[in-house]
Amino acid sequence: MNTVDICDDTATVAIHAGAVTYAIRLDVDAGIIHPVHWGPRLSIGAAASLPAQPSPHQDTFEAPWEAAEDYPAEGGRTFGPPVLGAWFADGTAGLELAIVAHGVRAGAFTVTLADRHQPLAVDLHYRPAPGTDVIERWAVVRHTGGASDGDIVLHRQDVGAWCVPPRDDYRMSHVTGAWSAEGMLHRTSLPTAQTQLTSRRGVSSHHANPWIMIDDSTAGEEHGEVWSMALATSGSWRITATRSHAGRCAVSGGAGHDGVRHWLRPGETLTSPIFAGLYTADGFGAASRGWHAYQRRHISPHPGELRPVLYNSWEATIFDVTEQGQLALAELAADLGVELFVVDDGWFGARTSDRAGLGDWHPNPHRFPNGLRPLADKIRRLGMQFGLWVEPEMTNPDSDLYRSHPDWVHHTPGHRRTELRNQLVLDFNRPDVRDWAWQWLDRLVRDTGAAFLKWDFNRPITEASDQAWTGHAAGVHAVIDRLRAVHPGLRIESCAGGGGRIDLGILRRTDQAWTSDNTDAVDRLTIQHGHTQLYTPATMVAWVTDSPNPLTGRDIPLRFRFHVAMTGVLGIGGDLTRWSPGERDTARQLVRLYSDIRLTVQHGDLYRLRPPGATTCAVQYVHGDRAVVFAFRVGADFAPHTHTLPLQGLDPRAVYRDDDTGDQYAAAVLMGPGLPLALPGGAYASTLTRLTRVAAGAG
Ligand code: DGJ
Repeated sequence: MNTVDICDDTATVAIHAGAVTYAIRLDVDAGIIHPVHWGPRLSIGAAASLPAQPSPHQDTFEAPWEAAEDYPAEGGRTFGPPVLGAWFADGTAGLELAIVAHGVRAGAFTVTLADRHQPLAVDLHYRPAPGTDVIERWAVVRHTGGASDGDIVLHRQDVGAWCVPPRDDYRMSHVTGAWSAEGMLHRTSLPTAQTQLTSRRGVSSHHANPWIMIDDSTAGEEHGEVWSMALATSGSWRITATRSHAGRCAVSGGAGHDGVRHWLRPGETLTSPIFAGLYTADGFGAASRGWHAYQRRHISPHPGELRPVLYNSWEATIFDVTEQGQLALAELAADLGVELFVVDDGWFGARTSDRAGLGDWHPNPHRFPNGLRPLADKIRRLGMQFGLWVEPEMTNPDSDLYRSHPDWVHHTPGHRRTELRNQLVLDFNRPDVRDWAWQWLDRLVRDTGAAFLKWDFNRPITEASDQAWTGHAAGVHAVIDRLRAVHPGLRIESCAGGGGRIDLGILRRTDQAWTSDNTDAVDRLTIQHGHTQLYTPATMVAWVTDSPNPLTGRDIPLRFRFHVAMTGVLGIGGDLTRWSPGERDTARQLVRLYSDIRLTVQHGDLYRLRPPGATTCAVQYVHGDRAVVFAFRVGADFAPHTHTLPLQGLDPRAVYRDDDTGDQYAAAVLMGPGLPLALPGGAYASTLTRLTRVAAGAG
């Protein structure tokens, strides 16, 4: 049960989320919220008996509660990173907060703090997300004054700090990356310092992703305590992990990056994104499964659905898009069992290269003289849904849109407008820009009957106003929300030059994400390992493309490429007109096989059995009676041809049958000595094993 208990005598609050309790103590006068517990479930009585733990260094140079406060605002002895920083109209800065109210409303505990001198109040919300071990936190900052008080300028507005209980050591896990190299996982000692993970790009970014995991350096994939936090924001963001000399650890986070200011006018409020926290006692694998369960229950717009097998034309045609060319691909795709055909970039305006046409969202009259409807109808007659690529936030300077509205892009008056990929970013913070986007998107979906949009974003934001670093993303969310409300059947893929905009904010309103423009199956093992640390396999779109891979030149067998793509949402992105009949036969069989396992892959519990880089990389999915195991060997170097692979997460008393061989195994064998694995010899070997629980297990 997810509930909140309060002990009035000790001013202790216990927030229970599934198997976890997060407990705080309120010091009303001092305006301090002390964390007293974040770990296995505890009764309110037990939580009330726990002491708040100040810094062991209590001297004139110290912050007594450094890295041990939920909401350390700027001012007084806050020497660590403040969660709230403000400049007031009278020229002063710094806050002196008091707790003025608290209580439970709509399943959330809310504590209100007000400044003793300035018209500023903050409501901090803590909500145990029902059915999960996740606690959601968000903050609403309010200007409570009148016109004579002037504006308040916020230069930092984090949601708050998550304080990790005292441990002898701290390690952090996070991902970094770049275009075509997203999701590189790092697990490093947390330095005694303030470590900042951030995006200053106005988008969640390829370069870092807004989550972090902390452990005491002893956790593994399936054991040990892990405290993790994730921000649901798609604009600029910042997560700061502080490890103090006194051995404490706190992680604060919020929207915006250093230097970005927010003007709060009298009566205005600023609501933060959610900064959610999850504690698990069973390692990084359990942390990922906890986040996946949270996404299925609270984030995914259509959690009960299975994502269709799609074909995307980008790598096959690049900008050379024609009705005949797309139809030829569509006929071949339909024959393979593809369910959704997506026409990528190049169908509109003067978009025959990346130099022109972005913003002119009408079918190219030479390529589609009768519009898109005839192609869309033919695709539907082939038994597939029709989908389209769009990039609503962008314009090429060489476009009718930009010629008519040069002021619509983010810019600093008088400054050079930074072009990247020959394009500029439209300011979605502006209502007129949002209205324009909404109107043509609505019309496009109606005119074509499109069931799916791939929503792309191919460059970061530059020259933005303060507000736009986060306001742009909020504007994008608003347009998507409106579009989905009017077209409830529409499904959307989040893309930003691959995985540049994947976060819990965008995934609340999109159904899947394009993980990376790098479609090399070996590189994908690493990228997908990073993606699934936080995000479900049902959001992870993976295409099988041509070999040698156009980006890396690596030649990889078709079966291996398929198996890697089948660990997420299977797509095909190769030039099917060049695939041999034999390759198309193999593809048809593997698409059929995917239909059989996709419920388990997309909705099951993920166990990362062996990480990429090990001799054999392996992942397993468990859903109800079924388990699916993929194993990959990349190199041939001295690797033995057979392995046993210990599995996880099975019903320990049951017997499982291999669906292909009919062999039966006790779960105790599969989870102990392991599944016998017959990987063929040589490089790029892969296997897929399907197991079904046999009803009367006798383990
Ligand atoms: C970047 C995407 O990641 C690609 O898949 C493709 O859609 C191109 N943009 C099109 O410009």
